[in-house]
Amino acid sequence: NVGKSTNVAWHECQVGKLEKQKLLKQKGCVIWITGLSGSGKSTLACGLSRELHALGYLSYVLDGDNIRHGLNKDLSFNAEDRAENIRRIGEVAKLFADAGVICIASLISPYRRDRDACRCMLPDATFIEVYLDIPLEVCESRDAKGLYKLARAGKIKGFTGVDDPYEPPLNCEILVRPIDGVCPSPVIMCKQVISYLDEKG
Ligand code: PPS
Repeated sequence: NVGKSTNVAWHECQVGKLEKQKLLKQKGCVIWITGLSGSGKSTLACGLSRELHALGYLSYVLDGDNIRHGLNKDLSFNAEDRAENIRRIGEVAKLFADAGVICIASLISPYRRDRDACRCMLPDATFIEVYLDIPLEVCESRDAKGLYKLARAGKIKGFTGVDDPYEPPLNCEILVRPIDGVCPSPVIMCKQVISYLDEKG
């Protein structure tokens, strides 16, 4: 249904973005966490949200799995539906950022063009892409939900990393990867993102 809404106008709200930022004493932005299933996206998103809360900042997590229970429950995992999943979450994230909230979106978002389209929706520097570059073997060995096992057994078709593609970002703001073969802990990942936010004010 994209592009079918015609003859609609845009209404400017009375309370501007800057006024909202002043009230909340923070700038809204979107932290977009991408990576394979089992790479630690949800763990990082929750940890970040907790840490930001402790520091006095308002954030909100949009988690792929969770949003697929409601807003996006009508979407499958084919490329077209994944694109729509990402587009909708991008639009919601944009509203949160506009409201002055630090919105943390954590979803596989396997296609570069879909993530880049979300980036284009937002003003400069408001979209912070975090790539969890955790090797497939590590993600698969974690297999918290048993989904890799089902995918390998052919019981789930089109599983990212197994028989569906993942396109890594070319220019992400934050790259999280193993150091000397050791994957960063949730605390270390969280610190890495918080230091970036600190640096960028
Ligand atoms: S996407 O690609 O961005 O639209 O995916 P997302 O909305 O983040 O949902 C990913 C979670 O759905 C489960 N799941 C699958 N993942 C990948 N491929 C297939 N085919 C699939 N089927 C179900 C899985 O639990 C993902 O959760 P995470 O948190 O990534 O492990």
